[in-house]
Formats: sequence, C-alpha cells, structure tokens
Amino acid sequence: MHAVVLVGGFGTRLRPLTNTIPKPMLPVGHEPMIARLIGRLARGGVTDVVLALGFKPEPFMEAFPDGRCGDVVLHYAVEPEPLDTGGAIRFAALHAGIDDTFVVANGDVMTDLDVAGLVAAHRRHGAEATLHLIGVDDPSAFGVVDLADDGSVRQFVEKPARGTEPSNLINAGTYVFEASVLDRIPAEQRVSIERDVFPLVADAGRLFGYSTDDYWIDAGVPDFYRAANLDLLSGKRAHESAEAFAPGAIVDPQATVSNTLVGAGARIAAGTTVVDSVILPGAVIEERAQVESSLVMGRVGADATVIESIIGADGVVAADDHLAYSTLPDLD
Ligand code: GTP
Repeated sequence: MHAVVLVGGFGTRLRPLTNTIPKPMLPVGHEPMIARLIGRLARGGVTDVVLALGFKPEPFMEAFPDGRCGDVVLHYAVEPEPLDTGGAIRFAALHAGIDDTFVVANGDVMTDLDVAGLVAAHRRHGAEATLHLIGVDDPSAFGVVDLADDGSVRQFVEKPARGTEPSNLINAGTYVFEASVLDRIPAEQRVSIERDVFPLVADAGRLFGYSTDDYWIDAGVPDFYRAANLDLLSGKRAHESAEAFAPGAIVDPQATVSNTLVGAGARIAAGTTVVDSVILPGAVIEERAQVESSLVMGRVGADATVIESIIGADGVVAADDHLAYSTLPDLD
C-alpha cells in the first residue's frame, strides 16, 4: 500500500531549529522524525511512501540516498510552490500514480497508532476517507469532529472557537483515503485538506472516524517536540525507545545530565548541569553551564544559564549570560 507523507511545511513554530533542518528531519530519539514515522507505517503494511516535499527538499534526498527507508520504497514529489495540505496530497499522489486506497500522514505526528487497524476500519465502513481521532482536554486548537454512533463524521470543524467544539475528538493527522478524494481537490492551487475537503466528504456521508487512545503527540511545537524525545527515554512508547546518549555524543564524566537526550557529536563539558532537555547533534555546552527544559543546537558558553529556551544552530549564549523563555537567534 502507498502512503503520502506531508513534509513540505515551513515548520515556523519550531524556529529557529527549522532555520537549518526541516521539521520532519529533526531527530526524535536520535532518529529523524520521518524515519520513525515511516517505520510505523511499514509495520502497518505500507510498502511505498511518497514524500510531499516543498520547503528544503534536499535534506530528505540526502538522508535516503538509495531511495529507501528500511524496506520502504521512497518517491519524492517536490511542489513548485506550497500547495497547502490538500494541494500537496493531490500533487504527490498523482506524481506517484496512486489510483487505489492509500494512507496519508502529517510528517510531524508521533504516535503508536496501528495503521493496519485504521485501514481495516476504513474498509469495514466502506468509507471514502477515514481519520484517526484522539480525545484531548482542549480540542479548540485542532480539527474537531462530531462522531455518530456508526462511526461516521457528522461534522468536521477546523479550530473551532473555545466552548463551541462539537466533541473532544480531534483529527490526529493520519488518514486513509480512496483515490476518489483526489477528485475533490482542485488542481494546481492551494487547498487545505482540513478546511476545504473534509467538510465536503462529511456532507456526503462518506467521512468516518477511528478513535483510539494510543500515545499521540504533534511534535511541531517546542514543548511537544521536547516531550516526543523525552517520552522515548522514559519508556512511554509501545514499540519504540531511545538511549539518553547517541553513539558519538561526548559527555564529560564530571557533567550532571538527567532526563536529557544528547545527540551524536554534541559535547557536554565538565561541571555542567543539564536537565529535561534535548541537546541536538553538534551542540556544545561549555564548562559549568546550566541548561534546563531547553532545546539546544548551538553553543552555551561557560557558566551560562539557559532555562526553557530554544537555541538554533547559529545561536550562541555568551559565557556567564542568563537566557530564559527565549529563542536564539531571535525570531523576527
Ligand atoms: P508551522 O509553520 O509551524 O505551522 O508548521 P508546518 O508548516 O509544518 O505546518 P503544519 O504543522 O500545519 O502542517 C502539517 C503537515 O503538513 C506538516 O507535516 C507539514 O510539513 C505539511 N505541510 C504543510 N503545508 C504544506 C505544503 O504546502 N506542502 C507540503 N508538501 N506539505 C505541507
């Protein structure tokens, strides 16, 4: 079975990390997010993945030079200009000649969903499109569904005003589509699958939901990106885990590092304290610096303090400086 994976967005909410690395190529548990996602699709029966590319396509092609990720065959569909989620799905599916039932996934969703279960539910309902749904406490920032007892979606509302949500069940970013969904997407223009297409399929009575309580995180915002990493360390995931230090991480024995992942080639010097953080490949934490609840790709100088901050590849915290609740370099 084919899957289209959406990986062409700008990833603005993870800036400045995404200034140099596109979001789905950022590591989660020392592996690119996209590699973990493709591994899960493969466990659910996907054999071919079409990467719907736009912003910064090169890092994807360089990461998988032989056109495979594990046993999965990769196809690259590079949009001439951003077509938004619906336009990108149409462009990628036509590029790969998809004319049968297929899976779609957002490139920044980390979940334990069994894709084979989603496909089976889709077929059982004779659906045109089936959405993976997750229950959350505050659904207002997501696409929210009103689900009938037979599993059909009566209504799909993208980001409803707080208090007007029809339920707490949200679109969790993995779908199964019949090829006929492609006919509902106008050609060569920006189309949102969430705002422009799901309501149409729901009105036709052909949109279904598949609700599970699997582990699920949208890793596209800083706190959840950090959580997606730390959850692999603490054993919260059903089928996946990660070690704290990647092979090639350089951590001085005199450093105190807890609940933190340290990527390949990152260097943590003596006397430092690093807590609840993700230290990305190439980062440097100099002597006696303290880092807490942060994402670091750049350099933290000696005796500096960094709390709840994001330091991109070009970010340098000077020795003795204090940085809290900030990004470096600053966002415009
Ligand atoms: P933000 O800028 O932080 O909102 O991130 P984003 O650009 O990734 O957008 P969002 O998280 O809403 O997008 C969901 C998924 O769709 C992500 O996996 C994106 O990579 C992808 N995506 C969004 N817009 C486009 C697009 O125009 N083309 C392609 N190919 N993918 C897109």
